[in-house]
Amino acid sequence: FQILVLNGPNLGHIGQRQPEIYGSACMEELCGLLSRIRPDLAERAALRFFQSNHEGALIDRLERARQEVHGVVFNAGALTHTSLALADCLAWIKIPCVEVHLSNVWARPETIRHTTLLAPHCLGVVAGFGLMSYALAAVALCEHLDS
Ligand code: DQA
Repeated sequence: FQILVLNGPNLGHIGQRQPEIYGSACMEELCGLLSRIRPDLAERAALRFFQSNHEGALIDRLERARQEVHGVVFNAGALTHTSLALADCLAWIKIPCVEVHLSNVWARPETIRHTTLLAPHCLGVVAGFGLMSYALAAVALCEHLDS
């Protein structure tokens, strides 16, 4: 499978950004983590990475993903809670997508983080496990694509 790991604003420096909230693992460790928990899947899943701080660039990348990948693991950062444009994009491109968050957004004090405009257009959501959220989302996505 070709899987796009898509990261939105402020997710270009995972590992360095507020590690007490987001963990100290960096994106480069994801392939190794997937190999550790599911070596079989790691062999079959090719991960492609894209990060942008710009909403439009994320939409452009999602539109291109229609032709290029089988599924998307998507952390839209703060745009999760606000972007009708990203929600509209997911609604029509219909690529299987799993929403992920490093932190457990529902356990955080800012109530705006408890709302996601994207989840209704996703297969499901994995939140709260740091970088492992991405690995678990990739596993769920591959199992979905297999079935
Ligand atoms: C986040 C949670 C968002 O609320 C926040 O704006 C982020 C990161 C996470 O991965 O926990 O930028 O998506």
